[in-house]
Amino acid sequence: MCGIVGYVGEKQALEVVVAGLRRLEYRGYDSAGVAVISDGRLEIRKKAGKLANLETLLGQDPLPQSTTGIGHTRWATHGGPTDHNAHPHVSADGRVAVIHNGIIENFAELREELQSRGVELASETDTEVVAHLLAEAMPDSDLAQAMQAVCHRLEGAFTLVAMDPHDPTTVVGARRSSPLVVGLGEGENFLASDVAAFVEHTRDALELGQDQIVVLRADSVQVLDFDGAPVEAKPFSVDWDASAAEKGGYELFMLKEIAEQPKAVADSLRGRLDAQQRIRLDETQIDDGVLRQISKVVVIACGTAAHAGMVAKYAIEHWTKLPVDVELASEFRYRDPIVGPDSLVIAISQSGETMDTLMALRHAKDQGARTLAICNTVGSTIPRESDAVLYTYAGPEIAVASTKAFLTQIIAAYLVGLYLAQARGAMFEDEIRAIMQDLSDMPQKVDLVLDTVEPVRALAQEYAEAGSVLFLGRHVGYPVALEGALKLKELAYMHAEGFPAGELKHGPIALIEDGVPVIVIVPSPRGRSVLHGKIVSNIQEIRARGARVIAVAEEGDEAITPFADHIIRVPETPTLLQPLVSTVPLQVFACELATVKGHDVDQPRNLAKSVTVE
Ligand code: G6P
Repeated sequence: MCGIVGYVGEKQALEVVVAGLRRLEYRGYDSAGVAVISDGRLEIRKKAGKLANLETLLGQDPLPQSTTGIGHTRWATHGGPTDHNAHPHVSADGRVAVIHNGIIENFAELREELQSRGVELASETDTEVVAHLLAEAMPDSDLAQAMQAVCHRLEGAFTLVAMDPHDPTTVVGARRSSPLVVGLGEGENFLASDVAAFVEHTRDALELGQDQIVVLRADSVQVLDFDGAPVEAKPFSVDWDASAAEKGGYELFMLKEIAEQPKAVADSLRGRLDAQQRIRLDETQIDDGVLRQISKVVVIACGTAAHAGMVAKYAIEHWTKLPVDVELASEFRYRDPIVGPDSLVIAISQSGETMDTLMALRHAKDQGARTLAICNTVGSTIPRESDAVLYTYAGPEIAVASTKAFLTQIIAAYLVGLYLAQARGAMFEDEIRAIMQDLSDMPQKVDLVLDTVEPVRALAQEYAEAGSVLFLGRHVGYPVALEGALKLKELAYMHAEGFPAGELKHGPIALIEDGVPVIVIVPSPRGRSVLHGKIVSNIQEIRARGARVIAVAEEGDEAITPFADHIIRVPETPTLLQPLVSTVPLQVFACELATVKGHDVDQPRNLAKSVTVE
């Protein structure tokens, strides 16, 4: 949420910064802005709307050449998406330009304080107060010292990046809870919300910790704490290149990411067995002895990641016999959750920066829980603050609506479940190996779904005018139904809801009327066949009331044929692995429907990918 780029080097800063913003635009697209330093002055251009609007402005009113610059793409919180609320914000004396991601929670009192000293504020943002406070601190100190002083006064979560024309070859950044990484180049250095912004220039990066300041120059990077003491930052290298964050011939990032799912699943499974054929995680500081003492598992996550957690609950409970609660991270810490040293809290997050999830994780740690992150972004905050990490290897996910991350989160959570079962002796080793074998068949099965998904597009076109679409599932099919509905809401802006099929008769069935499309995730008849029988009954209940049934059913499940208006076939899979195939047609359905309606699929309205505010 909000993309930030900073550059100091030998290249034209504007080009580097705008290219970086293009790669970060998925973080917010309410406005965009850039600042460079020229002839001892700040030069700023900013514009409401997508980055393209800023680029048009830059064409009409070019910026002077400069090798130091900052840029911002905004997801609005305080103040509407207007030109004057766009970042960068500048102090009244023109001395400091600042960009910001996060929320300054005490901004109202800081604003009043500034106003009482006669400062006039030009925007409704919380960010602008920082520009004025920095400028007030500057006469006696340099920008880095001013940043330290100001950060001590701020409450909330923030990444700040600022420039001072009196020191034109320096950019200063600061972070508390919001993301910021450093890119290390030759004679040039970068700051960004995530590595995608600079990966075309360098794959060498530095993680910044909590409450740290970074002073960036072309030939040096200095990391300090908020008191100015030097800090050692942890280097890491990015394991994908710039081409992974490009469309690569696809019309949409979402289409590319849907197509990449077989590879993402295969990559997330690779190398998970050691020489003894035992499961291993990426970074673990949780002893197997401790895992044997765990008496409950709690999954915290948001959005699609929470649906992955809901799928995993069925598998982890089945394999370990441990109770698994799945909690929406935004609700978790505000309701006295019962977690402690005997709890394993699993935080699932593609970005590793979702503020709700991060705050829930910190709350769990405060209660003494052991924590494990499932994450797709190396160097991000959630894995850094967890006791153990299992990375998903989905590669960069750029489309705002999550697809390949979901499948790999399920894989990763299953690996954690099997690891727990192994550590606790809850399953025989050959049972674990058999499941690993089934998992290793999944890339090929997902590929098969993609090969046969074309009729789903025609179906989407047929239902483009529907007033609402309902999704039903049972067991692991229930979170798949929720995910299918979420995709449709996010992309097609349609009313869509997912229900457990058995719950429908307790109320939501009143929504069924003639012609309402209902997508039903049909459980395998070969698994718990009782579930299959029950869902057939549920289908009959809704058909009797006029619903049009689209069944997502296994190849060879002929029992379903008489009860469905349309059938989307998926390959035979063990029950617990079915979400890995049955979700894919629902992603394609939502993507196609949004396309038919003429929506921006990769950047849906009001959303941002990495939500770094609570
Ligand atoms: C946002 C995105 C969703 C995503 C959720 C969690 O709401 O729009 O697609 O599922 O955040 O993101 P995370 O990065 O924590 O997985």
